[in-house]
Amino acid sequence: MSIRIAILVSGHGRGSNMAALIDACERGEIDGQVVLVIGTRREAPALQRAAEKGVPTCVISPRGLDDEQYARRLLQALEEAQVDLVCLAGYMRLLPAPVVRAYAGRVMNIHPALLPLFGGKGMYGEHVHRAVLESGMKVSGCTVHFVDEHYDTGPIILQRCVPVEEDDTWESLAARVLEQEHQAYVQAVKLFAEGRLRLEGRRVRILPSSP
Ligand code: GAR
Repeated sequence: MSIRIAILVSGHGRGSNMAALIDACERGEIDGQVVLVIGTRREAPALQRAAEKGVPTCVISPRGLDDEQYARRLLQALEEAQVDLVCLAGYMRLLPAPVVRAYAGRVMNIHPALLPLFGGKGMYGEHVHRAVLESGMKVSGCTVHFVDEHYDTGPIILQRCVPVEEDDTWESLAARVLEQEHQAYVQAVKLFAEGRLRLEGRRVRILPSSP
């Protein structure tokens, strides 16, 4: 059964992970369809990119709303679009708890480091890669995980590693990680669509493909 996917992006999101997921659905690599991209601000380049690809978009701004009101609007949009899976892609806020609960085990996020290292509030984009370089780590990477009610702590689905090179800047490291992000996110959503992800406590088991 083909799944219906919604993608959430933040204000200035450029949308490269979003585009990777849309393209993989169009190629048939993921048995699914991106039915809605939700942004927090109309100006987000990601929304423009989604619209150019013919994907419906909408803006749900948390501004001036309390968490409960923001959650209600998100839930309404997700329910109307009959979404099976919610993918956060460059979404920098904490997803309101009612949304996490309503879609338990059906919300994923991509993070540009090897969690549980270099995660948490304020750890996004440039901040993550700078922290990795400062730590002296010789490897970095990306993590796709299910989303719980905290920042970056949900069960890990997939991780991919990249080397940290001697002459890396945060920009060069970010670019190396981003390439892996696109592949890892597509792979994780493909596994979900195939019904091959089983949550056992904090572990996500990847089931073998059916013959
Ligand atoms: C990606 O690197 C993603 O991992 C990161 O934001 C970037 C969005 O790029 N997300 C976080 O840091 C979340 N904590 P994109 O808009 O090109 O997909």
